[in-house]
Amino acid sequence: MSDPMRPRASLRTAVVWEVLKDALDRQVKASGRESLDVLDTGGGSGNFAVPVARLGHRVTVVDPSPNALFALERRAAEAGVADRVQGVQGDAHGLFDVVERGRYDAVLCHGVLEYVDDPAEGVRNVVDALRPEGVLSLLAAGLGGAVLARALAGHFKEARHALDDPDGRWGASDPVPHRFTAEQLTSLVAGAGLHVAAVHGVRVFADLVPGVLVDTEPGALDALLKLEAAAAELTAFHSVATQLHVLGEARGAAEA
Ligand SMILES: C[S@@+](CC[C@H](N)C(=O)[O-])C[C@H]1O[C@@H](n2cnc3c(N)ncnc32)[C@H](O)[C@@H]1O
Repeated sequence: MSDPMRPRASLRTAVVWEVLKDALDRQVKASGRESLDVLDTGGGSGNFAVPVARLGHRVTVVDPSPNALFALERRAAEAGVADRVQGVQGDAHGLFDVVERGRYDAVLCHGVLEYVDDPAEGVRNVVDALRPEGVLSLLAAGLGGAVLARALAGHFKEARHALDDPDGRWGASDPVPHRFTAEQLTSLVAGAGLHVAAVHGVRVFADLVPGVLVDTEPGALDALLKLEAAAAELTAFHSVATQLHVLGEARGAAEA
């Protein structure tokens, strides 16, 4: 898994990381507290949890995988943030068996909704973990990105299958149980009572561009990162992004 601090891996994480960092900064200003309580549901080995802890926040990672939690512990220790990162074994379905409701300033749910049996329940649970003024960072696989990727690889029947399939799967051996359109994700977030503050397309080009073009051309990585950042903002590109990021805010919902 990637680390937002490593340049090549940043192609996969930069857009989300920038949106998340800004959202956390706003939470710090609004709450008047330097150190926030952050929950990372399905946080795995800490791709986001460890960098968030490095910003000075306290992060609780809930994940069903003991291996991921072990890797998280090691990574947090290496980064010198072990005292601010707590790993807890659990899942989105039984979230409140392991964490308190209404306790977190920010909740991350990155790359998890694809795997939960009931995505609407998953989103309701992560939203219920937020404080009244909290913020949700939701990242999930996009339908259109998968259709495009299968088609460009010459798997036209699979691309067509994903297009028509209610879960956006390209076939029985597709390892991803659910993919989403931007509209589906925003209605899940709004349905759980949050205001949709922003939607970004993630990895619009990164997965389609041959690595050699990025690794050998001087300045190519930086130029591609800038292109990804610009396209992420545009609704037209949401429909072909590999992943979609939705920022949900409780504060805006209360004012609406
Ligand atoms: C694709 S990884 C994403 C990890 C991390 N969030 C990131 O962005 O790098 C998916 C993670 O979700 C976890 N997971 C799978 N099913 C889950 C569930 N029902 N509830 C919570 N986490 C789950 C897996 O163990 C894995 O660590």
